[in-house]
Amino acid sequence: MSLAESWDRYAVASKPRRTVNATGDTTWLNWTQYADHGPNESVLGSVAGRRVLELGSGSGSNLAHLVTLGATGQGVDIAPARETVARERWGDLPGIAFRTAEATAFLKETDETFDVVLSIFGAVWFVDSDTLLPLIRLRMAPGGILAFSHLPPGSQGPKPAKSGLRHDRTPDEWGRTLTGHGFSDVRVSLIDPPEGRAVGTMLVRAFAA
Ligand SMILES: C[S@@+](CC[C@H](N)C(=O)[O-])C[C@H]1O[C@@H](n2cnc3c(N)ncnc32)[C@H](O)[C@@H]1O
Repeated sequence: MSLAESWDRYAVASKPRRTVNATGDTTWLNWTQYADHGPNESVLGSVAGRRVLELGSGSGSNLAHLVTLGATGQGVDIAPARETVARERWGDLPGIAFRTAEATAFLKETDETFDVVLSIFGAVWFVDSDTLLPLIRLRMAPGGILAFSHLPPGSQGPKPAKSGLRHDRTPDEWGRTLTGHGFSDVRVSLIDPPEGRAVGTMLVRAFAA
Protein backbone atom coordinates (compact mmCIF):
# COMPACT_ATOMS: atom_id res chain seq x y z
CA MET A 1 0.00 0.00 0.00
CA SER A 2 1.33 3.46 -0.89
CA LEU A 3 1.63 6.27 1.65
CA ALA A 4 -1.34 8.07 0.02
CA GLU A 5 -3.47 4.92 0.22
CA SER A 6 -2.48 4.42 3.82
CA TRP A 7 -3.50 7.97 4.74
CA ASP A 8 -6.68 7.59 2.70
CA ARG A 9 -7.68 4.64 4.87
CA TYR A 10 -7.04 6.74 7.95
CA ALA A 11 -9.15 9.55 6.42
CA VAL A 12 -12.10 7.28 5.72
CA ALA A 13 -12.04 6.05 9.34
CA SER A 14 -11.89 9.63 10.76
CA LYS A 15 -14.99 11.23 12.26
CA PRO A 16 -16.13 14.49 10.62
CA ARG A 17 -15.85 17.61 12.78
CA ARG A 18 -19.07 18.70 14.50
CA THR A 19 -21.00 21.51 12.82
CA VAL A 20 -21.14 23.63 16.02
CA ASN A 21 -18.73 23.70 18.97
CA ALA A 22 -19.43 24.09 22.70
CA THR A 23 -19.54 27.87 22.43
CA GLY A 24 -21.89 27.82 19.43
CA ASP A 25 -19.31 28.65 16.76
CA THR A 26 -19.61 27.07 13.32
CA THR A 27 -15.88 27.44 12.53
CA TRP A 28 -12.95 27.31 14.95
CA LEU A 29 -9.28 26.41 15.16
CA ASN A 30 -8.35 23.35 17.19
CA TRP A 31 -4.62 22.88 17.84
CA THR A 32 -5.05 19.90 20.13
CA GLN A 33 -6.40 16.35 19.96
CA TYR A 34 -9.30 17.31 22.25
CA ALA A 35 -12.55 19.07 21.30
CA ASP A 36 -13.15 22.54 22.77
CA HIS A 37 -9.68 22.70 24.24
CA GLY A 38 -6.51 24.72 23.82
CA PRO A 39 -5.66 28.13 22.37
CA ASN A 40 -7.44 29.61 19.38
CA GLU A 41 -6.09 31.30 16.27
CA SER A 42 -4.80 34.31 18.23
CA VAL A 43 -1.42 32.54 18.62
CA LEU A 44 -0.89 33.31 14.91
CA GLY A 45 -1.52 37.05 15.23
CA SER A 46 -4.04 38.61 12.83
CA VAL A 47 -4.63 36.49 9.74
CA ALA A 48 -6.80 38.95 7.81
CA GLY A 49 -5.31 39.48 4.36
CA ARG A 50 -2.63 36.84 4.92
CA ARG A 51 -1.93 33.85 2.67
CA VAL A 52 -2.16 30.62 4.65
CA LEU A 53 -0.85 27.20 3.64
CA GLU A 54 -1.87 24.13 5.65
CA LEU A 55 0.21 20.98 5.20
CA GLY A 56 -1.90 17.95 6.08
CA SER A 57 -5.15 19.93 6.04
CA GLY A 58 -7.43 16.95 6.69
CA SER A 59 -11.12 17.89 6.56
CA GLY A 60 -10.16 21.54 6.02
CA SER A 61 -12.01 22.84 9.07
CA ASN A 62 -9.06 24.65 10.65
CA LEU A 63 -8.14 26.35 7.38
CA ALA A 64 -11.78 27.26 6.76
CA HIS A 65 -11.86 29.08 10.09
CA LEU A 66 -8.87 31.25 9.12
CA VAL A 67 -10.49 32.02 5.77
CA THR A 68 -13.66 33.21 7.53
CA LEU A 69 -11.35 35.65 9.37
CA GLY A 70 -10.14 37.16 6.09
CA ALA A 71 -7.17 34.96 5.11
CA THR A 72 -6.79 33.19 1.80
CA GLY A 73 -6.15 29.48 2.32
CA GLN A 74 -4.46 26.66 0.45
CA GLY A 75 -4.92 23.22 1.99
CA VAL A 76 -2.67 20.36 0.92
CA ASP A 77 -3.20 16.75 1.93
CA ILE A 78 -1.77 13.52 0.60
CA ALA A 79 -5.07 11.63 0.98
CA PRO A 80 -7.54 12.09 -1.89
CA ALA A 81 -10.50 11.42 0.43
CA ARG A 82 -9.52 14.50 2.45
CA GLU A 83 -9.80 16.81 -0.56
CA THR A 84 -13.25 15.42 -1.37
CA VAL A 85 -14.56 15.97 2.16
CA ALA A 86 -12.93 19.40 2.52
CA ARG A 87 -14.33 20.64 -0.80
CA GLU A 88 -17.81 19.35 0.01
CA ARG A 89 -17.89 21.16 3.31
CA TRP A 90 -15.85 24.30 2.67
CA GLY A 91 -15.39 24.61 -1.10
CA ASP A 92 -17.93 27.47 -1.39
CA LEU A 93 -15.92 29.76 0.90
CA PRO A 94 -14.32 32.50 -1.20
CA GLY A 95 -10.52 32.36 -0.98
CA ILE A 96 -10.13 28.68 -0.04
CA ALA A 97 -8.55 25.94 -2.17
CA PHE A 98 -7.75 22.28 -1.50
CA ARG A 99 -5.30 20.09 -3.30
CA THR A 100 -4.29 16.43 -3.09
CA ALA A 101 -0.49 16.34 -2.96
CA GLU A 102 2.34 15.15 -0.79
CA ALA A 103 3.66 18.16 1.14
CA THR A 104 7.25 18.13 -0.18
CA ALA A 105 6.03 17.59 -3.76
CA PHE A 106 3.66 20.55 -3.46
CA LEU A 107 6.34 22.82 -2.02
CA LYS A 108 8.80 21.89 -4.77
CA GLU A 109 6.40 22.76 -7.54
CA THR A 110 4.59 25.84 -6.22
CA ASP A 111 5.86 29.35 -6.91
CA GLU A 112 3.55 30.92 -4.34
CA THR A 113 4.71 32.41 -1.05
CA PHE A 114 2.80 32.22 2.20
CA ASP A 115 2.58 34.40 5.31
CA VAL A 116 1.39 31.56 7.52
CA VAL A 117 2.25 27.87 7.23
CA LEU A 118 0.20 25.63 9.47
CA SER A 119 0.42 21.93 10.25
CA ILE A 120 -1.86 20.54 12.96
CA PHE A 121 -0.86 16.93 13.65
CA GLY A 122 0.03 17.13 9.96
CA ALA A 123 2.91 16.75 7.51
CA VAL A 124 5.49 18.51 9.71
CA TRP A 125 5.07 15.68 12.19
CA PHE A 126 5.37 12.94 9.60
CA VAL A 127 7.97 14.12 7.07
CA ASP A 128 11.71 14.25 7.67
CA SER A 129 12.45 17.77 8.93
CA ASP A 130 15.70 18.10 6.99
CA THR A 131 13.70 17.57 3.81
CA LEU A 132 10.54 19.51 4.65
CA LEU A 133 11.70 22.56 6.63
CA PRO A 134 14.01 24.03 3.93
CA LEU A 135 11.17 23.71 1.40
CA ILE A 136 8.75 25.44 3.75
CA ARG A 137 11.27 28.18 4.52
CA LEU A 138 11.76 28.90 0.79
CA ARG A 139 8.03 29.45 0.28
CA MET A 140 7.54 31.73 3.29
CA ALA A 141 7.27 35.51 3.03
CA PRO A 142 9.68 37.50 5.22
CA GLY A 143 8.22 37.77 8.72
CA GLY A 144 5.93 34.81 8.05
CA ILE A 145 5.02 32.34 10.77
CA LEU A 146 5.25 28.55 10.77
CA ALA A 147 3.02 27.00 13.43
CA PHE A 148 2.42 23.33 14.08
CA SER A 149 1.19 21.01 16.79
CA HIS A 150 1.65 17.37 17.67
CA LEU A 151 1.79 15.05 20.65
CA PRO A 152 4.65 15.48 23.10
CA PRO A 153 7.55 13.02 22.56
CA GLY A 154 6.83 9.47 23.71
CA SER A 155 3.04 9.65 23.30
CA GLN A 156 0.90 7.35 21.19
CA GLY A 157 -0.76 8.73 18.07
CA PRO A 158 -1.66 8.11 14.44
CA LYS A 159 1.00 6.21 12.58
CA PRO A 160 -0.42 4.58 9.46
CA ALA A 161 1.59 1.81 7.83
CA LYS A 162 4.51 3.16 5.80
CA SER A 163 4.25 6.63 7.33
CA GLY A 164 7.76 6.07 8.66
CA LEU A 165 8.82 7.51 11.96
CA ARG A 166 6.92 10.38 13.45
CA HIS A 167 9.23 13.30 14.12
CA ASP A 168 8.72 13.67 17.83
CA ARG A 169 11.07 16.28 19.29
CA THR A 170 11.56 17.94 22.61
CA PRO A 171 11.22 21.74 22.78
CA ASP A 172 15.03 22.12 22.73
CA GLU A 173 15.34 19.81 19.74
CA TRP A 174 12.73 21.79 17.79
CA GLY A 175 14.57 24.97 18.73
CA ARG A 176 17.84 23.66 17.31
CA THR A 177 16.26 22.08 14.22
CA LEU A 178 14.22 25.13 13.24
CA THR A 179 17.05 27.57 13.90
CA GLY A 180 19.36 25.34 11.84
CA HIS A 181 16.95 25.69 8.92
CA GLY A 182 16.83 29.48 9.02
CA PHE A 183 13.86 30.09 11.31
CA SER A 184 14.09 32.49 14.23
CA ASP A 185 12.32 33.26 17.50
CA VAL A 186 11.24 29.64 18.05
CA ARG A 187 8.50 29.37 20.69
CA VAL A 188 7.40 25.99 22.01
CA SER A 189 4.44 25.66 24.37
CA LEU A 190 3.23 22.56 26.12
CA ILE A 191 -0.54 22.74 26.35
CA ASP A 192 -1.89 20.87 29.36
CA PRO A 193 -4.49 18.18 28.67
CA PRO A 194 -8.09 18.70 29.81
CA GLU A 195 -9.02 17.38 33.24
CA GLY A 196 -8.96 13.59 33.41
CA ARG A 197 -6.71 13.18 30.36
CA ALA A 198 -3.01 12.38 30.57
CA VAL A 199 -1.44 13.60 27.35
CA GLY A 200 -0.97 17.24 26.46
CA THR A 201 -0.07 18.86 23.16
CA MET A 202 3.08 20.54 21.88
CA LEU A 203 2.55 23.78 19.95
CA VAL A 204 5.55 25.14 18.06
CA ARG A 205 5.87 28.53 16.39
CA ALA A 206 8.81 29.94 14.46
CA PHE A 207 9.32 32.92 12.19
CA ALA A 208 10.93 33.42 8.79
CA ALA A 209 13.38 36.26 9.34
C1 LIG B 1 -3.63 13.17 12.05
S1 LIG B 1 -4.28 13.85 10.56
C2 LIG B 1 -4.60 15.55 11.00
C3 LIG B 1 -5.53 16.24 10.04
C4 LIG B 1 -5.89 17.70 10.36
N1 LIG B 1 -4.73 18.55 10.33
C5 LIG B 1 -6.61 17.81 11.67
O1 LIG B 1 -6.09 18.43 12.61
O2 LIG B 1 -7.72 17.27 11.78
C6 LIG B 1 -2.78 13.99 9.57
C7 LIG B 1 -3.07 14.50 8.18
O3 LIG B 1 -1.83 14.76 7.50
C8 LIG B 1 -1.90 14.21 6.19
N2 LIG B 1 -0.51 13.92 5.77
C9 LIG B 1 0.34 13.04 6.35
N3 LIG B 1 1.53 13.03 5.72
C10 LIG B 1 1.42 13.95 4.72
C11 LIG B 1 2.32 14.41 3.71
N4 LIG B 1 3.57 13.94 3.63
N5 LIG B 1 1.89 15.36 2.85
C12 LIG B 1 0.60 15.85 2.92
N6 LIG B 1 -0.28 15.43 3.85
C13 LIG B 1 0.12 14.51 4.75
C14 LIG B 1 -2.80 12.99 6.33
O4 LIG B 1 -3.40 12.55 5.14
C15 LIG B 1 -3.84 13.49 7.34
O5 LIG B 1 -4.95 14.11 6.72
